Formats: sequence, structure tokens, C-alpha cells
Amino acid sequence: MVWNAYYRGDNEPGRKVELPAAPRWRTFPRPPEGEGEFFRPPDGLIEAVNAALVLRRPLLVTGPPGSGKSTLIESVARELGLGTVLRWHITSRSTLADAVYRYDVLGRIHAQQVAQAQGKTAADKITDFLQLGPLGAALASATPRALLIDEIDKSDLDLPGDLLNVLERGEYEIPELVREEDQDLQVRERDSKVTHRIREGRIQCAAFPVIVLTSNGERSFPPPFLRRCVRFQMPPLTTELLTEIVRAHLGPEVVARVETLIAAFEENLRAGRTVAVDQLLNAVFLRTGKAAPPAEDQDRLTKLLLQKLTDA
Ligand SMILES: Nc1ncnc2c1ncn2[C@@H]1O[C@H](COP(=O)(O)OP(=O)(O)OP(=O)(O)O)[C@@H](O)[C@H]1O
Ligand SMILES: [Mg+2]
Repeated sequence: MVWNAYYRGDNEPGRKVELPAAPRWRTFPRPPEGEGEFFRPPDGLIEAVNAALVLRRPLLVTGPPGSGKSTLIESVARELGLGTVLRWHITSRSTLADAVYRYDVLGRIHAQQVAQAQGKTAADKITDFLQLGPLGAALASATPRALLIDEIDKSDLDLPGDLLNVLERGEYEIPELVREEDQDLQVRERDSKVTHRIREGRIQCAAFPVIVLTSNGERSFPPPFLRRCVRFQMPPLTTELLTEIVRAHLGPEVVARVETLIAAFEENLRAGRTVAVDQLLNAVFLRTGKAAPPAEDQDRLTKLLLQKLTDA
């Protein structure tokens, strides 16, 4: 049999299909609090988080794809009431300045020209065109915020060092604001209505943010960087934790029905195959949801979903 509940491949046009409800983690808009509620920390992680919290150091979390590195901060922010997580996703083009603030100088010039053309004098305020990025907001906030610096191993070579320098001193000067006449400004956080007070053009940290840096371990970091972080390597997932995770995401009634699947998944991990927790969650969802394919198709579908991540 072929599981063809929706798409059949028969080219018959205009078939009306009604898809079943999406998995909770694929519903939109995404909840602002993220997946924190469903996170189950592996052994050792709680201590590492607490050490980083007390020492006011960033926590550098390393581990394979899908091991929960990016989700951890949502769990911490939720539990400690740190508000919306500030996110900085690193690529080879990321710069420190960009993560601190963005100044839309072209937008400002354009607004001035439009106002001039209309014969108006523009109420030209720099704060309408300058916004704090995730790092800037985390440093400027009067209360500790949660900051995710995701995939730091994808950055250009200098970024980790520059970043740790800023975190060490907890300050950053914004030249455009230093030049302003008004030396006491409220600057808006990007994608938010929250504003932060900045005096004399200088961001001055008053409450060190809770920072999680994540890395897939694609490159190593220099010792001066490492010594300023608390480090944690996500441990291999046990059947016990996998069961906990499935229970958290899909409910207790599902667990008993997929014990063999969880055991097989864990076996795959132990054999060194790279497979991620969310692949398991997908497979369990498909198997146990309302849209579950018939029994004879299930193994084939599970195999489809649990392919190694190292296969292209
Ligand atoms: N320990 C866990 N408890 C609950 N859910 C988990 C856990 N680990 C992973 N997940 C789930 O697996 C999914 C992937 O996790 P996440 O995106 O945090 O992984 P990652 O380590 O950041 O992966 P990548 O390196 O690919 O970015 C998320 O939907 C998350 O909810
Ligand atoms: Mg991630």
C-alpha cells in the first residue's frame, strides 16, 4: 500500500483535502514564549545553567543538531521570568555593531527630503531611525534579559573575541548618539516597543544578561574565549530522557504506544548515526495522530523520517 491520504499523484485537479491539525510545533503564528515549556534538561545541564547565572558568564552549549541547544534559553527565560528572548542568529556576515544597533541613515535622509518637498520642517529625531539589536538591548536593559547567540561557530574568525571583549566590559559606545545634542535618549529595541535609556551615547550594562551561546562544534574557539564562558556539551540522549521529551511534547497517552520506536531511535544514536529529537517527534506524531497512516505503511514512513542527517 501507499499512504496517499492527501496527494495521490493521479493528476486529478482541484481535489479538496482537509489536512489534520498541524503538530503543535508547526502552528503559526509561533508562540512568543517558544518551546521552553516543553524542554527537558539532560543530566548536568541544570548545574551548568546555574553556574553561568551565578558567575554572570555566558553559557556555551555544544552538541549535535536538534539536541535542544537553541531551545534551552526559552526554558530558562520562562522559568526566571526574563521576558521575550532576544535572538542573534550568527552567520559569516554577522558583525558585532549590527547586533548592538542599527542606524537607518538612508531612511533618515529620505524622510528629511520628503518633508522638505512638502514644505514641512521634519521633526527629525535620531531615535526614530536608530534601534537596538539583540546584543544592544541585552546590555542596555535595566533588568536581566535572556539572549541567545545562536551558532557562534558560523561567525567570522574575529567575532568571538570581539564579542567577549564587549561582554567583559559591559559597555559599548554608539558614535552617532555621542554626537547628538540630547545626551539622554530613549532608544527603541528592534521589533519591539520596549525602549532603553541611553546616556551620553554609551550603553552601560547594569544587569548582566543571561546568555546562551550555541555551537555545533564546527570549529574550536581560542582559549581566551573559552575561559570567559561556562561550557556544556549536550550528553548523548538516553531512552529515559527521550521518553520524557516525547511525553512533554505529545502527552503521556502517546508514550506507551511508541516504546519500541523510542528504543530503536536510541539504538540508532548509540550506533553513531546522527538523528535529531525533532525527527523522532515527527515520527511519533505521524504514527499516533489522527492522520496516522495504516499499520502496514508505518515502518516505511518512520524510516523516511528517521534518515541520518549526514545523508544529503
Ligand atoms: N531536551 C529536550 N527537551 C524537549 N525538547 C527537545 C529537547 N531537545 C530537543 N528538543 C526539541 O527538538 C527540537 C530541536 O531543538 P533545537 O532547535 O533546540 O536544537 P538545536 O540543538 O538548536 O539544533 P541545531 O544545531 O540544528 O540548531 C525542538 O523542537 C525542541 O523542542
Ligand atoms: Mg539551534
